[in-house]
Amino acid sequence: SDRAQEDASRMTAEMQAALQPLFGGGVADTLVALRRELHRQPELSWHEEHTCERLAHALAALGITDVKRVAKTGLVARVPGRTRGGGTIAVRGDIDALPIAEATGLPYASTVPGVMHACGHDVHASWAVGAASLLASNPAECDVLVLLQPAEELGEGAAAVLESGALDGVRTIFGAHVDRRFEVGQVVAQAGPLAASTDEFTIVLTGAGAHGARPQEARDPIVGAAALVTALQTLVSRRLDPAQPGVVTVGTIAAGTASNIIPDHAKLTGTIRATTPGARTLLGDGLQRMTQAIADAYGLTAQVRLSGGTPPIVNPANIAEMARIAVTTVLGADGLVPLPTTNMGGEDFAVYMERIPGCFMRVGAREAGGRVIPAHSSAFYAAEGALFVGAAVLAECARVAARESA
Ligand code: NI
Repeated sequence: SDRAQEDASRMTAEMQAALQPLFGGGVADTLVALRRELHRQPELSWHEEHTCERLAHALAALGITDVKRVAKTGLVARVPGRTRGGGTIAVRGDIDALPIAEATGLPYASTVPGVMHACGHDVHASWAVGAASLLASNPAECDVLVLLQPAEELGEGAAAVLESGALDGVRTIFGAHVDRRFEVGQVVAQAGPLAASTDEFTIVLTGAGAHGARPQEARDPIVGAAALVTALQTLVSRRLDPAQPGVVTVGTIAAGTASNIIPDHAKLTGTIRATTPGARTLLGDGLQRMTQAIADAYGLTAQVRLSGGTPPIVNPANIAEMARIAVTTVLGADGLVPLPTTNMGGEDFAVYMERIPGCFMRVGAREAGGRVIPAHSSAFYAAEGALFVGAAVLAECARVAARESA
């Protein structure tokens, strides 16, 4: 496989020395072929049928046969440990794609119009399969569940997996995301905030419509909405600790039908992001309170709906330490890099972490000399070397966690 070699040649010499012996016997080619096929045939959340088939096929080809369907369009593979019992460790890769038309120009670009692996989940799925293969040949102390999770992009898949009971008895869970802000061979595995909570809100302000020339006969929801948009920005600037990141964004406003009519209603939708449970509650409660107070001040009534989105990811110190040991074992001390600024994107891995102690990592996915390309853009792809790093690091995380809690 030329491209795999080309990609491998962009890795550092030490990293190659560390990783190459792990993926012998055709495993590297199997994983690269899997990744490219998934990339070629992306499927949207809850439609990952072909993806599931292809993943099951790849697992079987690598000798992993204890594989079950989970959460409609996901899979869970059990890789036996050296000793049975004593609970299990889980390693998760998400598998869904996005409704974006691909413009990468890759030889294995999407063949599905308007659908694309623009968030690197093709690589996450493949590195999870790679981790399963590595754990089959060099097992952890206890069994490891390798979870291939659907519907991450909707923030729904993790909850469905938990609901299925497939992770009952799991002691520790690990996951990771590709990130082109870092080079292949660099991994963020640290304690503290790593991804933000994502809550959506919908606000309907109801007043009373009238002729635009006679506002005294109306209770104008547009003026109330304008005041509210400005007031909401003070939640971050005046209520939240300035040392903590947070976002309140009003993304849509809809009201009115003509220039000389005051409408009955105004509707606003937006998103709240926070990096700690406390900040999430503060901003959500503040939004409710501010909306009711502004509505009251303008003689309007307000309906506020705040969706229960995904919580923030805050890596606990003891599990992050296991991940740190794993990263340095696989890549050496140079492999570990700090997160320069908190990522305000969301990740439904956080849903597992509400129930199961875990750690989420960022895995470098930019070729040496490559450029930073934002995820969820039509030009995004992860460098192939990231696939081997992710597989090796996740497998080692499972081994470290199994050893430490044995
Ligand atoms: Ni993603």
